[in-house]
Amino acid sequence: MPTRTTGRYERTTIGGEAVAAFIPRALPPADPPLVMNAELSVRLRAAEQALIRLELAGEMVPSLDWFIYAFVRKEAVLSSQIEGTQATLVDLFTFEAQQDAVADNDAEAAPPPAADVEEVCNYLDALTYARSQLADARGLPLSMRLLNETHQRLMRGVRGAEKLPGEVRRSQNWIGGSRPDNALYVPPPPHALGEVLGAFETYMHASDTLHPIVRAGLLHVQFETIHPYLDGNGRIGRLLVTLLLDEWGVLTKPLLYLSLYFKRHRDDYYRRLNAVRIDGDWEGWLEFFLDGVATIAGEAVASARELFALVAQDRARVLASPKTSIGALRLFEHLLRHPIVTVASAMKLLETTKPTASKAVDVLVAAGVLAESTGKKRDRSFVYRAYLDRLKVGTELSSTPNP
Ligand SMILES: Nc1ncnc2c1ncn2[C@@H]1O[C@H](COP(=O)(O)OP(=O)(O)OP(=O)(O)O)[C@@H](O)[C@H]1O
Ligand SMILES: [Mg+2]
Repeated sequence: MPTRTTGRYERTTIGGEAVAAFIPRALPPADPPLVMNAELSVRLRAAEQALIRLELAGEMVPSLDWFIYAFVRKEAVLSSQIEGTQATLVDLFTFEAQQDAVADNDAEAAPPPAADVEEVCNYLDALTYARSQLADARGLPLSMRLLNETHQRLMRGVRGAEKLPGEVRRSQNWIGGSRPDNALYVPPPPHALGEVLGAFETYMHASDTLHPIVRAGLLHVQFETIHPYLDGNGRIGRLLVTLLLDEWGVLTKPLLYLSLYFKRHRDDYYRRLNAVRIDGDWEGWLEFFLDGVATIAGEAVASARELFALVAQDRARVLASPKTSIGALRLFEHLLRHPIVTVASAMKLLETTKPTASKAVDVLVAAGVLAESTGKKRDRSFVYRAYLDRLKVGTELSSTPNP
C-alpha cells in the first residue's frame, strides 16, 4: 500500500473545544497516483461482470418493471435501516396497501405513515426525483444542486426539519465520540466547503482514465469525508453511487443494494473510510468497495432468478386453480408490486366491486398464493408470503448491527 497524503488539517473550535478538521485534497488520488495493480484489476473485472449480469437481468423482459419496483423498495428499507430507522419491508408494503385502499382524490383519508415508514418513503421519493432529473434532458445534471434538492426530499418531515433539508451545513460537525474533542473524525470547516465541493463536482464531470466503477467508489468516500450536510450524508452518499453508475451507463436501473454490504460489514466500512484519510489507503478502500459491488450484484442476480421462477410457478398455479377468474389473475400481477393487500386495496387496484375483489382474494388464498396475516375477522390483510420472504432476505431487523 503506497502511503500518500489525502488532505490537510486545520485547527478550529467547536463550542470552545479545540479540534483538527480535515480538508481533503481534490480527486483523483495523487502522489502517487492510483495504480490498478493485479489485485484491484481482478476485483474490478469481477465487479464489472456482475454488474453486466445484473443489468441483463433487469432487461430480460420489458414487463419486469415490478422487479425494479420491488428492488428499489428493498434498497430504500436497507438504506434507512443503516441510519437506525426501524421500518421493515412488511411495514412499507402494509402502509402502501393502506394508501392503495383510498381513492387518489382522498389521500388525506389514509392514516399518515409512522415516522420510520415516512423516512423510507422519503428515500423512495428522493431516489425517484434524482433519477427523473437525470433522465430528463431539461432536468438538473449531476451536481451539488441536484444532491441538495434530493437531500431536501430525503429529510422532509418531522425528524429532519432542524437538519437544514436541502442545504449544505453552515456549522462545524463531527463524527463518532460523545464530544468534539473525542470525535473519530472532524470533517472540513464550513468555510472550506465551497472549495472542496467545487472540486468534488469538477471531478464528477472530469474525463479520467479510471473505470467508472472505481470513480464511483472514490467519489463515495470523498462525499462522506466532506460530510456536507448536518444529517443524511450516508444515505445521499449511497444514492450517489446508484446515480453515478446510471449516469455513466454501467447499471441503468437502480438494482444494486450496496447498503446491504455496508450494513453487513459496518466496522470494515468505517475502518476503510478512516484509512483513506489517515493512511491515504485508496487501494484498500477500493478492494473493499469492488468486492462489495461484485458480491451484492451477484446476490441480486441470484435473487432475481429465484423471484422470476417463483412468480412463473405461482402464476401457473393461479391459472390452474379450478375457481380462477380474470380478477384473480389480474390481482396476481398486482401482487408483484403490492405483495400485501386488503379487500379494499384490491378493489382499488382492480377498479372493481367489493364482491369481485373479495372473490379474487379468495381464489388466490385457495391457490396457496395469498395467506391472511392478521387472524382477525375484520380489516383483514393478505400477504404473498413466499415472494416477500425471498425479497426481504437481508432486511430483517435482527441482522442489523445497529443498537
Ligand atoms: N470515520 C468516518 N469518516 C468518514 N465518513 C464516515 C466515517 N464514519 C461514518 N462515516 C459516514 O457517515 C455516514 C453517516 O452520516 P449521517 O448520519 O450524516 O448519514 P445518515 O444517512 O443519516 O446515516 P447512515 O449512513 O448511518 O444511514 C456513514 O454512512 C458513513 O458513510
Ligand atoms: Mg444520521
